[in-house]
Amino acid sequence: MAKATRSSIQCCRIVLIMIWVLLAQYQIPISSISVEPKGGERSCRERERDALLSFKASIEDPSDVLSSWQTGQDCCRWRGVVCSNRTGHVVKLDLHNNFTIFNYDYNTDMINYKFRMLGGEIGPSLLAIEHLNYLNLSYNDFGHKRIPEFIGSFKNLKYLDLSYAGFGGSIPPQLGNLTKLLHLDLSFNSLESVDYVSWLPRLSSLKYLDMSEVNLSTTVDGVHALNMLPASLRVLYLFDCNLNATFSSLPLYSSNLTSLVRLNLGYNYFHGPIPDGLLRNMTSLKELGLQSNDLIGDIAELMKRLPPKIEELDLSTNNLTGSLPIRLEHMTSLRYLYLYNNSLNGHIPSGIGKLTNLRGLDLSFNNLLGIISENHFASLTRLEELYLSNNNNLTMVVDPNWIPPFKLKYVDLSSCNLGPHFPTWIRSQTDIIDLIMSNTGIVDRLPDWFWNVISSVEYLDLSLNQISGVLPSTLEFLSAAYEINLNSNQFHGGVPKLMMSLQVLDLSNNSITGTVPLSMCNQVQSLEILDLSHNRLSGQLPQCLTSRKSFRADHGDLTLIGSKLSIVSFSNNSLSGEFPLFFRSCQYLNFLDLSYNDFYGSLPIWIGKRLPQLAFLLLRSNMFSGYIPIQLAKLDYLHVLDLAHNNLSGTIAPSLVNFTAMTTVSSYGSYYVPDFISMLVVTKGQALEYYTNTIISLMSSLDLSSNCLTGKIPEEIGGLATLKNLNLSGNRLTGDIPETIGGLWSLESLDLSNNELYGEIPPTLSNLTFLSYLNLSYNNLSGVIPSGQQLQTFDDPSIYKGNNDLCGPPISKNCSGDGTTLNYPLKYEDGNEMSSFYLSMGLGFAVGLWVVIGPLLFKRTWSAAYFLFIDNIFDKIYVFMVLNWARLIANIRKK
Ligand SMILES: *[C@@H]1O[C@H](CO)[C@@H](O)[C@H](O)[C@H]1NC(C)=O
Ligand SMILES: *[C@@H]1O[C@H](CO)[C@@H](O)[C@H](O)[C@H]1NC(C)=O
Ligand SMILES: *[C@@H]1O[C@H](CO)[C@@H](O)[C@H](O)[C@H]1NC(C)=O
Ligand SMILES: *[C@@H]1O[C@H](CO)[C@@H](O)[C@H](O)[C@H]1NC(C)=O
Ligand SMILES: *[C@@H]1O[C@H](CO)[C@@H](O)[C@H](O)[C@H]1NC(C)=O
Ligand SMILES: *[C@@H]1O[C@H](CO)[C@@H](O)[C@H](O)[C@H]1NC(C)=O
Ligand SMILES: *[C@@H]1O[C@H](CO)[C@@H](O)[C@H](O)[C@H]1NC(C)=O
Ligand SMILES: *[C@@H]1O[C@H](CO)[C@@H](O)[C@H](O)[C@H]1NC(C)=O
Ligand SMILES: *[C@@H]1O[C@H](CO)[C@@H](O)[C@H](O)[C@H]1NC(C)=O
Repeated sequence: MAKATRSSIQCCRIVLIMIWVLLAQYQIPISSISVEPKGGERSCRERERDALLSFKASIEDPSDVLSSWQTGQDCCRWRGVVCSNRTGHVVKLDLHNNFTIFNYDYNTDMINYKFRMLGGEIGPSLLAIEHLNYLNLSYNDFGHKRIPEFIGSFKNLKYLDLSYAGFGGSIPPQLGNLTKLLHLDLSFNSLESVDYVSWLPRLSSLKYLDMSEVNLSTTVDGVHALNMLPASLRVLYLFDCNLNATFSSLPLYSSNLTSLVRLNLGYNYFHGPIPDGLLRNMTSLKELGLQSNDLIGDIAELMKRLPPKIEELDLSTNNLTGSLPIRLEHMTSLRYLYLYNNSLNGHIPSGIGKLTNLRGLDLSFNNLLGIISENHFASLTRLEELYLSNNNNLTMVVDPNWIPPFKLKYVDLSSCNLGPHFPTWIRSQTDIIDLIMSNTGIVDRLPDWFWNVISSVEYLDLSLNQISGVLPSTLEFLSAAYEINLNSNQFHGGVPKLMMSLQVLDLSNNSITGTVPLSMCNQVQSLEILDLSHNRLSGQLPQCLTSRKSFRADHGDLTLIGSKLSIVSFSNNSLSGEFPLFFRSCQYLNFLDLSYNDFYGSLPIWIGKRLPQLAFLLLRSNMFSGYIPIQLAKLDYLHVLDLAHNNLSGTIAPSLVNFTAMTTVSSYGSYYVPDFISMLVVTKGQALEYYTNTIISLMSSLDLSSNCLTGKIPEEIGGLATLKNLNLSGNRLTGDIPETIGGLWSLESLDLSNNELYGEIPPTLSNLTFLSYLNLSYNNLSGVIPSGQQLQTFDDPSIYKGNNDLCGPPISKNCSGDGTTLNYPLKYEDGNEMSSFYLSMGLGFAVGLWVVIGPLLFKRTWSAAYFLFIDNIFDKIYVFMVLNWARLIANIRKK
């Protein structure tokens, strides 16, 4: 999980999904609301039908959801319309978008989901439906329009759900007129209601209120504001409502919300200690969510104050400290206990094994330590979710013959010590859906029973162990799997045949051999991420042409199978052949790493046309030759172009150095990019490992070093204002360093060494205020080394070495009064000799660098990158979101 990154795109997506799940998770049926069922006899009233038709006319319905709404037909039979079987009046209007987003194929789902949304204007004609008691417009998109005021006039309304409907602005206080309302859900729009005290207390019958993500910051003080909520409430969800301005800590004990059964105040940035009397009067409380606030305090103290019948407790992502109390074993009503991402320490009391109702336990990302034994699970017969990952030092010690009382569905034990033997208790866990055991110290052969046991797995992660064995030739029997991650183990064998559901396959850093099979051509129709880097694959990639039928030779254009691939790494194998046609149909390809292989031939111009989403193209250390096609400049999202250590020739065309993403601050393409694929970027003289999403903010790089490029450095290069790493070293570039180089003002690393550049070093170089690495050695540069600003910090003379006519600090040669070099014959000759010595050594060195010290650098920087990223608090938050995402999805399935 070190592989966390900060992409806000990714983050938003996760938040969105989380929120969705949360919402769905908490949507309990409201049995008290009786909607009269659709009757067969009565047909609808003309006045109401006209009102509905006029409503339909004002609404936007791109996918024709309301196709059944036709003039001259019985409106009681229309989709979403329910009439009273007694009176024939329309009583219920349920127009929520019922497209299910949770079948893993996020991008396609999103398109379908959006397509089914209603939008446009909600006209007041609806008011003619006087007997309406149920209105649901959720999961549509009304384009940030305000909630129409007239909704306050449906005086019979008992149920109103406007969640996820794209409403904006302030909530009309007219809603306060809906005095019969039992259920109100306004969550996840872009709403605010700083004056909620003016209307909310009037909803005196309200039992269910969800205003999650409504901005409720108000000037009223905390206790007072809570007392403004209807005391009738049983369910209250105020998730991410900006309440921090109102409540400095939680004054729940003094509110009159004494009937509450479910309460969630997560993501409100409450801070400070938990007050003594917390929840004193909420004796019926069964569910409490205070996750992602900033609560400080001792977990044992807090648990003392909880109502005895608490069933679901989510205090995750706070600053709670201390050890889990022994008395936890008496909280036998507990069904879900989520305490992840706090600072809990000490041992996990084995009494937890007495919580017979426990279904979900998440203690991950704390500082817990010690041994976990069979006792910890003694009576946990109902346990389905177990998350203990990323603690200080948890070791699971159980008898090899232990058969657990539970059948887990979701398990994450990453970074717990489970080894060295493969845990045999897994054998009884035949219901497993998510199995995550990354970095658990297993040094063992994968047992033969393993694949049969996990046949219903959807997400499998055994990465970072030393598990050996031959992979089965097919994994098609794992028919529900969408992600398999076995990276950094010792698996042998060929690339297995895969199930069509698979979206992510990471087999990197094993000993996989053979060629990439032809079957991969079909698999790329579902596969989005494919990482086979650091293996021993050889041969060419398949070409993936379609069948004869769609082969249109007359067009000279081969139709290719559509592919969903967005991230692909074949780095560090022994693959060969020309640039693979395999990628020609990968229109969503964002990241392509073919570095450290034996590919050859020219770079095809279709890369620029066929791969419009490409943000990372890494072809380092191959044998590509010919020109660099200027069409690459058409790749609007290209952040990292690494063509170093090939045999590319020709000039650097002015129209090539015109990459939009290196010119302006820009983002990825529209597609979702996960974070965990890493790449090496050689910058500042060393190789650093970056993850796909961090690279956007940390790095944009153009590396054409160690090729055979000739001609001048084009002036246009100065336009790459957001470029951070430029390496053109080890070519045969001539001419001046263009003055425009001063326009590369984001540049952190500039290497022009080992070329044939001449003339003076342009003073504009001192404009590069972020520059921390510079290497101009082994050229024919002359004149005074410019000083001032950032250049002053480069006091290592070796970066100017091998330029005989340079003078001034930091090199020892003085300049004459007119700025030309003082010619000391002896020294000059010395320098000359030395420079040719260094030149020849430098060339060999540059070429051999990767072979010799690359691996060393790699290992060292890997761990450096690890800490760099985990240190970042934002990343941390993100990690938890990712983890929770899986867990939350688990929840929705469960309900
Ligand atoms: C009419 O509605 C009532 C409840 O309101 C229900 O019990 C009854 O079965 C319904 N009758 C028909 C014919 O649907
Ligand atoms: C509805 O509420 C508004 C403002 O809250 C108020 O001015 C209006 O009189 C109310 N209408 C009815 C019919 O109660
Ligand atoms: C809550 O209680 C206070 C004092 O007991 C009372 O003044 C207030 O009206 C109550 N609020 C609601 C919404 O019932
Ligand atoms: C809450 O409980 C405390 C002590 O049990 C009592 O003094 C207080 O009046 C109660 N508050 C309400 C609003 O019921
Ligand atoms: C490969 O796996 C080993 C452990 O099996 C690990 O030490 C090493 O860092 C991994 N290398 C990469 C590139 O992931
Ligand atoms: C750079 O790209 C822009 C449009 O993206 C184009 O207008 C301009 O002519 C290009 N510059 C060169 C030197 O090709
Ligand atoms: C120097 O950098 C600034 C931005 O910091 C930029 O606006 C300016 O054009 C640069 N000067 C030169 C000579 O490139
Ligand atoms: C500068 O470049 C030369 C030649 O490419 C290389 O030998 C030398 O190590 C580099 N200097 C530094 C400080 O990285
Ligand atoms: C390539 O993989 C091998 C192990 O398979 C590893 O030792 C080496 O460091 C890797 N090279 C690069 C450049 O990542």
